[in-house]
Amino acid sequence: MSALEPVVAKLTSDPAHDEDQPTISEAIGADHGAIDLYAENIKNASTSQEKIEWRNQFTWALARHAVSEELTMYPVMEKKLGQKGKELADVDREQHMAVKKNLYKLQDMSPDNKEFFPLLDTLLTDLHEHIEHEVKEDMPRLEEILTREESKSLANYFEKTKLILPTRSHPSAPNKPYFENFAAMLAAPMDKFMDLLRAFPDEGKLGDVSANEVPAVR
Ligand SMILES: [Fe+2]
Ligand SMILES: [Fe+2]
Repeated sequence: MSALEPVVAKLTSDPAHDEDQPTISEAIGADHGAIDLYAENIKNASTSQEKIEWRNQFTWALARHAVSEELTMYPVMEKKLGQKGKELADVDREQHMAVKKNLYKLQDMSPDNKEFFPLLDTLLTDLHEHIEHEVKEDMPRLEEILTREESKSLANYFEKTKLILPTRSHPSAPNKPYFENFAAMLAAPMDKFMDLLRAFPDEGKLGDVSANEVPAVR
């Protein structure tokens, strides 16, 4: 083994210097696009079963996205942007609350229920207003203050944090999910998430969860 190998390995495993690692606004933007696509797929699905599958994909993707932002991006905004960061994050959390309330109802509602699509539309209206806040207010300020390397590191942290919130709907999900169901995850206090994050750097556990990180929709 060449003496340089460990150094090269360390450099290539460092997200801040990984060419393929997106920045925080790219990572968040990609999620927003995927979430919108899942919502479209609920509307376009031709059978009730398909609508249910896309509903599950949508609700979990959005819940994991929101919780991960609250654990990673918003604290960095508060730390790096001072009072303005706190104000922005407060608006974000309030907007999340409104979306989560409706997401909670939507998760267990049949798409055949006549209230389902009006509820989805209300949720999407709130969500798009919130996304606009993130894209126009949060991201430009955050990217301005972070170096490209810091932005990539934060994106990597954001993405890894999502992995601690696995879907419940796929048969190959971990045997012992961190949360038994959607309601438990939404209701979990932030302390609970912080405990999970502290346990996170265990490579073995990360590998297991990553291996199970497969699309919930067949
Ligand atoms: Fe958000
Ligand atoms: Fe977002």
